[in-house]
Amino acid sequence: MNVFQHVEDLGDLKAALQEAFEIKKDRYRYQELGRNKTALLIFFNNSLRTRLSTQKAAMNLGMNVIVLDVNQGAWKLETERGVVMDGDKSEHLLEAIPVMACYCDLIGVRSFARFENRADDYEEKILNQFIRYSGKPVFFMESATVHPLQSFADLITIEEYKRTQRPKVVLTWAPHPKALPQAVPNSFAEWMNAADVDFVITHPEGYELDPMFAGNARVEYDQLKAFEGADFIYAKNWSCPGVTRPEDYGKVLCKDMSWTVDARHMAVTNNAFFMHCLPVRRNMIVTDDVIEAPTSLVIPEAANREISATVVLKRMLETL
Ligand code: CP
Repeated sequence: MNVFQHVEDLGDLKAALQEAFEIKKDRYRYQELGRNKTALLIFFNNSLRTRLSTQKAAMNLGMNVIVLDVNQGAWKLETERGVVMDGDKSEHLLEAIPVMACYCDLIGVRSFARFENRADDYEEKILNQFIRYSGKPVFFMESATVHPLQSFADLITIEEYKRTQRPKVVLTWAPHPKALPQAVPNSFAEWMNAADVDFVITHPEGYELDPMFAGNARVEYDQLKAFEGADFIYAKNWSCPGVTRPEDYGKVLCKDMSWTVDARHMAVTNNAFFMHCLPVRRNMIVTDDVIEAPTSLVIPEAANREISATVVLKRMLETL
């Protein structure tokens, strides 16, 4: 595997899940695979879970790890060609990428949507430069449009906790004070569409996900109706994807607190498990009682980030 961006990069999903559960039973089994190999993790944005779980995954595989926080200690990077670099940016990404690639075998990159230009974000302008100019396998640690390591961990968690063969999984928008990217809901939709689940998306009008991710998923604008009989509730805020009105891309269109997931919502579900990728703003996205309930899976989900990353890095090492 040379690039990990989309669900199909893993090939057969059942086989990938099987591998994840085998690794979960013995996460140090492939220690020799990464000996004398180095993973470089590059962060243009903050992280807690991705930073720690991916480092741990690399260590599980016997790898060395270098972490670079681009905004703390590195030269400020220009990312556009043709710019006269007479401002505060000292280095161009087009030199920085091949230089960074000299020091590693695999590269993970986190670079969020900038909300300056929808086309630039949705064309994955930054990550694609890493793929093109590094000459190394590249895995996405949350890009402008996707967060596949999170979605793989979410799927592992759903497989572990499901009580029926084909559970009902609901992705619900929830309010947030700031404009957040669409990477998590995009990927979650893509992965749920590929999994054997009954998948429903609910959000206020104007928050329609890009069809390349939403696919044929059912969209229900009545949140309570969507929750009826659900086995898993996956809450997340996202800003306007700009599908119907491109001029609204990246905007906060709704702050309706009736969308906060609370006991009233959970009461109409099939005693559903609650999921969120974290970090989460309590009593905006979800109430204290729901996130603290025994049915909350936010910690097992975070724990499975180590497993999803171990599978992905292992597969990349196998193709070096
Ligand atoms: N869920 C997730 O990616 O968390 P971090 O932003 O802390 O890495």
